[in-house]
Amino acid sequence: MMSKDANDLITRVGAENGAGKVLRRYWQPAALSEELAGNRPVIPVRLLGEDLVLFRDNEGELGLIGRHCPHRGADLCFGRREDNGLRCPFHGWHFDRTGQCVEQPGEPDGSRMHEQIRTASYPVVERNGIVFAYMGPGDPPPFPALDCFAAPDTHVFAFKGLWECNWLQALEVGIDPVHASFLHRFLQDEDPSEGYGKQFRDRAANTEIPMTQLLREYPRPEIQVEETDYGMRLIALRHLDDGRTHVRVTNQIFPTAICIPMSNEMTITQWHVPIDDENCYWYSMFTSFGAPVNKDLMREQRLKEHRLPDYAPLKNKRNNYGYDPEEQASETYTGMGLDINVHDQWAVESMGRIQDRTQEHLGKTDVGIIRYRRMLRAAIEAVDANGTDLKMQNGATGQITGPVSVDAIGEGGDWTETYRTRDAERRAGCDWARG
Ligand code: FES
Ligand SMILES: [Fe+2]
Repeated sequence: MMSKDANDLITRVGAENGAGKVLRRYWQPAALSEELAGNRPVIPVRLLGEDLVLFRDNEGELGLIGRHCPHRGADLCFGRREDNGLRCPFHGWHFDRTGQCVEQPGEPDGSRMHEQIRTASYPVVERNGIVFAYMGPGDPPPFPALDCFAAPDTHVFAFKGLWECNWLQALEVGIDPVHASFLHRFLQDEDPSEGYGKQFRDRAANTEIPMTQLLREYPRPEIQVEETDYGMRLIALRHLDDGRTHVRVTNQIFPTAICIPMSNEMTITQWHVPIDDENCYWYSMFTSFGAPVNKDLMREQRLKEHRLPDYAPLKNKRNNYGYDPEEQASETYTGMGLDINVHDQWAVESMGRIQDRTQEHLGKTDVGIIRYRRMLRAAIEAVDANGTDLKMQNGATGQITGPVSVDAIGEGGDWTETYRTRDAERRAGCDWARG
């Protein structure tokens, strides 16, 4: 059982809070590139409780600076896009993309006050459809060489969605291999050949069994958790009646991401990024080890379920997530439709804005969650004691590759060999991942 203080420590994201300090020491998704695609590439971004403005300047370079003008607080999202920065429309103070005030046209001639005026600014980099920001002290860590960044743009599709809850409960649904057998249960199986772009609609590994059937018929996986240089690997074993074993490998990439198989061809790398203590975005990179991704189709599938510009799901707590008791009786476990994102969204939002972990009762199958919280607490202690001295940070972040995320079928007991072989076969047939 957890104390309220311990829950606050691992959930709250202010710059002085434990989790907030750790999360600031890693690159975090700030926006999708497509959000900057219009004829005015200036958008508000709220990240880790800070209000910022992200823009592309006239030279095409990105800047991420404080949203409120340091003069008297007007909103720089309405700034004039001039030179290589933004000019506040209120009194004309001009900021470059590093946040430095470079001109105060209404102040007396010759005034050098602007040299002392600087607003918050954070480094940003753009990778395969997502703009990442570093909001921590000192130099940012090297960028990890994950599959989703190694793949060419043609093989990655990025999207995001709003969840109205704390980031940690959102992340924890991704390191909980049992819930897929219940929350995402379909009482009837669709034809796997029609499941493009959707999770759990393929065949299980190289069998003819639909993944939905496997999850439904084998609801008690044996779960193994291993800590790794990037975070942790979760291996869920489902021992089939015919003597074979289904091995599903998913990952937690410390601190806010997971990497999981979506289908035999694609993986999902998903970050759960705090907007503030009580809201978060999931950002996903869908990465194909086979054909180029059909971005138009995947975007269209997701835009049917989300509203722009804030990527808020159309099904949400205000309309009971589309809950239909008849559907629950005959078609799905939740009665909330076939989009598994909605199931996860209901699960994590219905806990309350910040889950009250003083009231929870973790079981044996919550081992991934237990181990993750231990890692996060250790990271908080390390940051408090040594500043930036996390084991993932000492130059090692740039060395991280993969991680292996795959479904496999094995006969014998060496599951490591089973999933590695399946992953190696997939990489061997893939131009960008051949290594
Ligand atoms: S409030 Fe921005 S220039 Fe005055
Ligand atoms: Fe889920």
